[in-house]
Amino acid sequence: MAEVTDPVDVNGGGRVVALVPAAGQGVRLGEGLPKAFVTLGGRTLLQLSVDGLLASGAVDRVVVIVPEDRVADVRAELPDGVDVVAGGVERTDSVRAGIAAASDADLLLVHDAARALTPPSLIARVVAELRAGREAVVPALPVADTIKTVDLLGVVTGTPHRSDLRAIQTPQGFEAGLLRRAYADAAAATDDAGLVERLGARVRTIAGEPLAFKITTPLDLALARAVVDDRDLIEE
Ligand code: CTP
Ligand code: MG
Repeated sequence: MAEVTDPVDVNGGGRVVALVPAAGQGVRLGEGLPKAFVTLGGRTLLQLSVDGLLASGAVDRVVVIVPEDRVADVRAELPDGVDVVAGGVERTDSVRAGIAAASDADLLLVHDAARALTPPSLIARVVAELRAGREAVVPALPVADTIKTVDLLGVVTGTPHRSDLRAIQTPQGFEAGLLRRAYADAAAATDDAGLVERLGARVRTIAGEPLAFKITTPLDLALARAVVDDRDLIEE
C-alpha cells in the first residue's frame, strides 16, 4: 500500500528563511536613490520590511539583497543575525543571490523591500500555509480595474473576466527545493511564483492585504506616508 503522508506535517518543523530583494534602483519612484533606502516615518523601506518579517514570529532568518556598494552600510545598520548579500541587475539575479545564501532553508519566503507596510499577520499566514503542506503560497487581492491585453500598437486584444484575475503580493512562500529548482534555469520574471508555475507546481493563493501594496510610484509613497501618519491604519 502506498504510504499516506499527512499534509499537515510535511513542512511542520522546517526552517524558514526570508529573502528580501532590495537591490532595485527605484527608477519609477524617482527619489534619486535606490528605493529600499527611501525613508518612511524615519525608517527605510528596507528596515520596515525586515521589522515586519521579524515581528511575524514566523521567520527563523532574514537575508537581504542590496546594491553591491551598500552591503557594508546595511550590515552595520540591520539587527544581528540578518545577513546581507549583493544583488544583481535584474530582480531575478538578486533573488538568485539570496537563494545561494540560504542553503539552510527548508521553506523560503521572498518579500519585496518595497512592500514596507505589509502586516506581520500576513507573513505568518503565508508560513502557516507552507507548514500545512502547500508547496507554493502567494497573497492575492481581487482587482478593481478592468484589465485588458493589448498588442504592440496598443490595440486591445482581449478582456479577461475580472472575476478570474488577482493582483499578487509578497511575501511569496515556497518549499525551498522547489524555488531552488525554479531558479536553476530561470529567465527573468516579475514574480517568483511565475517561475515555479513553469515547473508545473501548484501555487495556492491566500487572501492578501491592502497594506501589502508595493511602493512603486510617487503616489504610492504619498499613500504610504499618509498611512504611517495615521497609526490607526496600521496593525500594532
Ligand atoms: N529588486 C532587486 N534587484 C533588482 C531589481 C529589483 O532586489 N535588480 C527589488 C527591489 O529593490 C524591490 C523589489 O525587487 O524591493 C521589487 O522591484 P521594483 O518594485 O521593480 O523595484 P525597483 O526595481 O527598485 O523599481 P524600478 O523598477 O522602478 O526601478
Ligand atoms: Mg524594477
